[in-house]
Amino acid sequence: MTLIDGKAVSTQIKKEIAEEVKEIVAKGGKRPHLAAILVGHDGGSETYVASKVKACEACGFKSSLIRYEEDVTEKELLQKVEDLNKDADVDGFIVQLPLPKHISEQKVIEAIDYRKDVDGFHPINVGRLSIGLPCYISATPNGILELLRRYKIETSGKKCVVLGRSNIVGKPMAALMMQKAYPGNATVTVCHSRTANIAEECKTADIIIAALGQPEFVKAEMVKEGAVVIDVGTTRLPSTKTKSGFKLHGDVDFENVAPKCSFITPVPGGVGPMTIVSLMRNTLLAGKKEIY
Ligand code: GUN
Repeated sequence: MTLIDGKAVSTQIKKEIAEEVKEIVAKGGKRPHLAAILVGHDGGSETYVASKVKACEACGFKSSLIRYEEDVTEKELLQKVEDLNKDADVDGFIVQLPLPKHISEQKVIEAIDYRKDVDGFHPINVGRLSIGLPCYISATPNGILELLRRYKIETSGKKCVVLGRSNIVGKPMAALMMQKAYPGNATVTVCHSRTANIAEECKTADIIIAALGQPEFVKAEMVKEGAVVIDVGTTRLPSTKTKSGFKLHGDVDFENVAPKCSFITPVPGGVGPMTIVSLMRNTLLAGKKEIY
């Protein structure tokens, strides 16, 4: 069994990006600039945004954090999105989700100029991804592709089961695994809460990508000997054993599943660090105006 070290790969990629930024600056170019809008004080969102700002520093990017209180109006937020769309100094920006209930996430996402949508959430980027056109690919699926690439994991002709159908992970992941490219060329099955026989589907999978947000859902008896298991789960549950008072739980019963796998990602230290690094790569592309 090979443990996929997302932390080590992400550190390596940040170094590669920082090198490229150094070269850009040495040639008189501008550092890529990522802006992030954070509304409220949700613990998970605070942690993710802080990690994104820190990753920008490691990559040599400029970053701006724009904060609003929970009671910001949709109109104010849309105005800020419009300002960032027009700000020539900002190469790409994200609006951290979830947003408070009185604000339409879809409206906000669609207000972002797709050419600055480094999260890859805008319908234009999602649509382009689904037909294989250059676009910003959402960070988590892209991070998983990079892990498959760096560990040279074969995907062509394999049966890949994606657990979860979210717009951010499940759907784009399925589209990418079936694309005519490497990683891809897999036969993809998407399972969700209404799937009748999830265990049976998983048992025949060469690759399982678990992104349903249910701690320890994938059990050893659901996994074929030699399977590749990618765990996207990041459920934060209270814990008395950690300094932060929280512990991250993956969607896979790691202890019992790992011995059966050819490759597996841990939580934390697997997909999570790759997600942030994918956002950095999209920001670098945005700075270089390489896609649009
Ligand atoms: N909330 C959870 N994951 C993400 C992400 O990748 N981007 C944004 N903007 N919000 C999130």
